[in-house]
Formats: sequence, C-alpha cells, structure tokens
Amino acid sequence: MINVAIVGAKSYTGEELIKILYKHPNVKIVSLSGRMQGTTKHICEIYPYLKGKVDILCEDINEKKIAEQSDLIFTALPHKVSMEMVTKFYNFGKKVIDLSADFRLKDAEIYEKWYESKHISPELLKKAVYGLPELYRKKIKKATIIANPGCYPTTIILGCYPVLKEKIVNKKSIIIDSKSGISGAGREFVKTYHSPNTYAYKIGGIHRHIPEIEQELKCLITFTPHVIPQERGMLSTIYFKLKKSISENEIIQIYKKYYENEPFVRIVESAQTKDVENTNYCNIAINIDKRTNNLVITSAIDNLVKGASGQAVQNMNIMSGFDEEEGLI
Ligand SMILES: NC(=O)c1ccc[n+]([C@@H]2O[C@H](COP(=O)([O-])OP(=O)(O)OC[C@H]3O[C@@H](n4cnc5c(N)ncnc54)[C@H](OP(=O)(O)O)[C@@H]3O)[C@@H](O)[C@H]2O)c1
Repeated sequence: MINVAIVGAKSYTGEELIKILYKHPNVKIVSLSGRMQGTTKHICEIYPYLKGKVDILCEDINEKKIAEQSDLIFTALPHKVSMEMVTKFYNFGKKVIDLSADFRLKDAEIYEKWYESKHISPELLKKAVYGLPELYRKKIKKATIIANPGCYPTTIILGCYPVLKEKIVNKKSIIIDSKSGISGAGREFVKTYHSPNTYAYKIGGIHRHIPEIEQELKCLITFTPHVIPQERGMLSTIYFKLKKSISENEIIQIYKKYYENEPFVRIVESAQTKDVENTNYCNIAINIDKRTNNLVITSAIDNLVKGASGQAVQNMNIMSGFDEEEGLI
C-alpha cells in the first residue's frame, strides 16, 4: 500500500485521478490540494458524487506537509506552476508524476522557445522519464520524476511508432489531423465554452505538442489540432507516404506484433472515441489509400484517461511494482 497525494485536485485531470485512485486496492489517497485561497473544503463539496467514498479535505498546497504525508505525488497543474512544485517535491526526496508539459522536453532551450518561459530546473529534465509505458517501461520502473505525456502526443506516438521503427514510411512528410473533446483544453475553457462548434486551431506548426512528438519520434510533422463538440475523447488521423510496396494486412501484422504484449493498445478495424471513453485504451486502425499509396492510421483515446490520468496511474503501477492494469480495467 502506498500513500499518494494529488496536487491540483480541482482540475479535470485531478478529478480523474481521484476517481481512479480511490478504488485502487494498493493506494491510499492521503492528501488533496489545490488553489483554495486560504479555505478548505471537503472533497465532496467539490465533487458531490464522492460522498461516502472519499473522506478527505481539499486544502491549499503546502509542499512540505504534502511531502511528509505521501510516498508518491501527482501534480495536475498548469505548466510553469508545476515546474516549481515538482522541483520542491524532488528535493524532498519524493517520487512525482507530473501531468503538465514541464518535464517532457529534454532540451531546456526548446522548452523555453515553445513555452516562452525559462525552465527553473533544467538539470531535472535529464532525470525525468517520458511516461509512455509502451516505449519506456524499463526506465519508468526506476524513475523518480515522470513527465506524463500530452494527450495528442499519446495518440500520435502510439499511432506512428511501429511504421517509423520499421522505416516503411517517409518520416519527413507526416501529416496529422487531430480532434479533441473540449475537456482537452482544461476546465476554464469548458466554463467559457457556450455553443457546440468544430474548428481547427494553432494552424501552421505552432501547437506546443509538436516538439514533444518530434522529440520522441525523430520526425517532421505537419500537425493541425481541432476542437469537436463532445466533452471527452481524442482521435488522430495520421497520413504517411509509403516508401515501399506493402499490403494493408502486412502493416496490420506489424502493429499487432509491436503491441501484442501491451495491455492498453488494441489494433481495431475502426478507431472511435466512444469505444475508449472512460478507459485507458488506445485503439489504432490501419488503412491504405490504394489510389495514392498513402498509409492512413487512426488512433483514439480518452484524453483524460490514456491521455492523462489513466496513463499517470499506469506509470505509478509500474514504478511501484503493482500489476500494470490495477485500477484501470
Ligand atoms: N485536460 C486534458 O485532457 C489534459 C491531458 C493531458 C495533460 N493535461 C495537463 O494536465 C495539467 C492539468 O490540466 P487540466 O486540464 O486538468 O487543468 P484544468 O482543469 O484547467 O485545471 C487547472 C487547475 O490548476 C489550478 N491552478 C491554476 N493556476 C494555479 C496556481 N498558480 N497555483 C495552483 N493551482 C493553480 C486551477 O485552480 P482553480 O481551480 O483555482 O482555477 C485548476 O484547478 C495541465 O498541465 C495540462 O496541460 C491535460
């Protein structure tokens, strides 16, 4: 049994962490905190459905007290804010799983360019492990800081990895079109989102998830994200130029082989957000456009689960020697 703290309990991803962790047989939630302006609230006042299930106060963030109470800390906060907290928890000798982007990029200069702010702990970037279990399980086991991946990068990296590894596509002409439910942009955005709408944003190579994807896949992408009128769920459609003649079935077999032992990746005929909603699965579908000889991969997750809190718990399970699927199926 480990004692865990969730910092940023009022956030979307903080709420999702509570929902997963209060049922986890090897975990005791000992601390919930957030921006409480000097007040405390029972967590059931914030999330009434937790009444009778989680009996704990949500308090202002006190790093020393949180570190004293817990073995492992989840930070579910905006970038920049997270950086300071993670550094303090690390200095207190604690394991941290950070859901923000602050420790995902290995190069502080690239972080500073894309996030327009100086990194206060560049030395910790080398220590942080990118928390995508399908690629880094061995490193995650020994990690002290986990940089939990972004939601778009999770769909895209899992969708691209096998064909890039096998070198059967041109890695400099990948086009990605992703759609996200509105929760992908955080609670503040949802509060001000008045009418259902679909639109592309950050067009032209300016979305902050681009350097993270290119760092992990060592490729060049044209990436256009979209917001769609549903609360949660994310689907990426990825177009590749094939370098050689290969059948759809051969590529399906490659993906099945790469992910055969992965508990949360499934190769499917059609990747749809409804099939992964409230789950930690990533569903991937493979098709070839025979007219143009382009490969089209579609990859679906729940942005708040495999794209954030579920993946964070998967990482916690690996770091703590628990069954990787514990609390997640
Ligand atoms: N949403 C997703 O699908 C998703 C997926 C992957 C990763 N992430 C990442 O996970 C982190 C949390 O995202 P989210 O969407 O869950 O956030 P969110 O719902 O927008 O909530 C952000 C939380 O941060 C708190 N906060 C803001 N400034 C603060 C400060 N200076 N000190 C302390 N607390 C502060 C806010 O407090 P108040 O309640 O007082 O406003 C709020 O509770 C972000 O880094 C995000 O990029 C999100």
